[in-house]
Amino acid sequence: MPILLYWYSERLILTRLFILGVTMDELPVYTKSQLALRNGQDKPEVWIAYKGVIYDVSRSRLWHSGKHYEHWAGQDLTAELPDAPHDEWVFDNFDPIGKLA
Ligand code: HEM
Repeated sequence: MPILLYWYSERLILTRLFILGVTMDELPVYTKSQLALRNGQDKPEVWIAYKGVIYDVSRSRLWHSGKHYEHWAGQDLTAELPDAPHDEWVFDNFDPIGKLA
C-alpha cells in the first residue's frame, strides 16, 4: 500500500508538470541557501521542499509569514511530515516550482 501511494504521488507531480508544460528535468534547481531565503521572513515568498521538490505555498493562509504549526518554511520538511495530522496530499494544491540541489 505505501508503495502504491508513493507511486500515485509521483504521478500526480508529473501530471501537474505536464499541465504546466514542463518536465521534472526542466524545473530550476535551487540550493538550500536560496530555499532558506524563502522562509516568509527574508523574502515575501514562502517555499517548502518535500521529497526533493520545492513548492510555493505563498498563497496559503496556513503558511502565512512562513510558520505552520511550529514548522518553518524555507527548508526541506520531508522528515517533519510524520509530525503532521495530515499526509502529503496537502501538496496537491500547489505547483512544484523547482528542485532542491
Ligand atoms: C504539528 C504539525 C502540523 C499540523 C498540526 C498541521 C496542520 C495542518 C492543517 C490543519 C492543515 C489544513 C489541511 C487539513 O485539514 O488537513 C494543514 C495543511 C497543510 N500542511 Fe500541515 N500541519 C503540520 C505539519 C506540516 C508539515 C511538517 C508540513 C510540510 C512537510 C505541512 C504542510 C502542509 C501543507 C502544504 C498544507 C496545505 C496548506 C493549504 O492548503 O493552504 N504541515 N496542516
